[in-house]
Amino acid sequence: MNPDSKKLKVAKSSLDYIEHDCVLGVGTGSTVNFLIDLLPDLINKIQAVVSSSDESTKRLEAHGIEVSNLNNIGNIDLYIDGADEATKNLHLIKGGGGALTREKILAANAKEFICIVDDSKIVDRLGKFPLPIEVLPMAQSYIAREIVKMKGQPILRENFITDNGNHILDIHNLDITNPIETETIINQIPGVITVGIFARRPADILLIAEENTIKIITDKD
Ligand code: A5P
Repeated sequence: MNPDSKKLKVAKSSLDYIEHDCVLGVGTGSTVNFLIDLLPDLINKIQAVVSSSDESTKRLEAHGIEVSNLNNIGNIDLYIDGADEATKNLHLIKGGGGALTREKILAANAKEFICIVDDSKIVDRLGKFPLPIEVLPMAQSYIAREIVKMKGQPILRENFITDNGNHILDIHNLDITNPIETETIINQIPGVITVGIFARRPADILLIAEENTIKIITDKD
């Protein structure tokens, strides 16, 4: 099965979790784009939609779906998003598309967070995918030096500005043996807006598109 067929399949499988009158948070990326394209058929079931990026907002609006402001909504019932890497402990690396800050805000606000991936994203240990960190531009050199002290190799993402007007450092070869600890340490560096480790607030459910099936891993497994 080709990668897009897996993304479509896993996006479809997440629709089963959308309950009547749901406030839905929508993530960002090529997997979530399949979900967005399926939403028009379910729109009567959904009370409100909140988006994690300008890119997803545009796609939702192109389908005629109104996007609400999180400040007017309160809690999100269900947040669905992809990931760049995921472990069986439901820890994730996100931010390959640069939307990690709003994604983390929606995940934090969500009663339930479902992560949809194909099996190429599953790893035993996070960190092969370069870890994105959104940084305040005036602090990027300082933060890069702090990361080098942690034995990571920071690369500034060229010609890229986030939806929030900030820069992204992609950290190569960082040892992320303890994701919660590494997330906490990087969070403390002044000028860091968001680190792309999602371990303090992991996914609740991981849906994985395998060759012939959707594998489900939950925090109860
Ligand atoms: C966006 O910033 C990311 O966190 C995406 O969720 C992640 O990169 C997954 O994207 P794909 O579904 O395109 O792989």
